[in-house]
Amino acid sequence: MSFAFNEAHEAHFNYLLPRYPQKKSLVLPSLWMVQYQEGYISMEAMHYLCEKLEVSMSHLYGVATFYTMFNLEKLPPYHVQVCKTLSCALCGKDDILHAIEEETGLKVNEANEHFKISQVECMGACGGAPMLSLNEDYYENLTAESVKSLLRGLVK
Ligand code: FES
Repeated sequence: MSFAFNEAHEAHFNYLLPRYPQKKSLVLPSLWMVQYQEGYISMEAMHYLCEKLEVSMSHLYGVATFYTMFNLEKLPPYHVQVCKTLSCALCGKDDILHAIEEETGLKVNEANEHFKISQVECMGACGGAPMLSLNEDYYENLTAESVKSLLRGLVK
């Protein structure tokens, strides 16, 4: 199975290209476009980007695996990412994770047909600790009960 940018992403790529000093500088926006288009970054898409950006697979793979926001495998409909950094850790991250585990039956880095659970570094919403992201949305000032209710509402 091969990959290519759809028309909108190809147009956006061509819009960005002259704004950067070299093609290699477009690695991050290109990875985002792949993820928006496919929901994850497949090996086929990585080969496509290596050719398009004139970078090695080791460079591209290094970038894609460094940032936890890039998914290298297809995800279930809900990706729950719990912040584990200082503010969230001090404000009850462990209680939130425990509640998620109880509600879904999943531990960190596990997935089922509905959820994948991840722990990630600070997402820049420390004032709302403890927090998580559910796909693209942030949920802040969580309690064990509010997170259970959130997850329960998704799979009714
Ligand atoms: Fe959790 Fe910053 S420490 S969002």
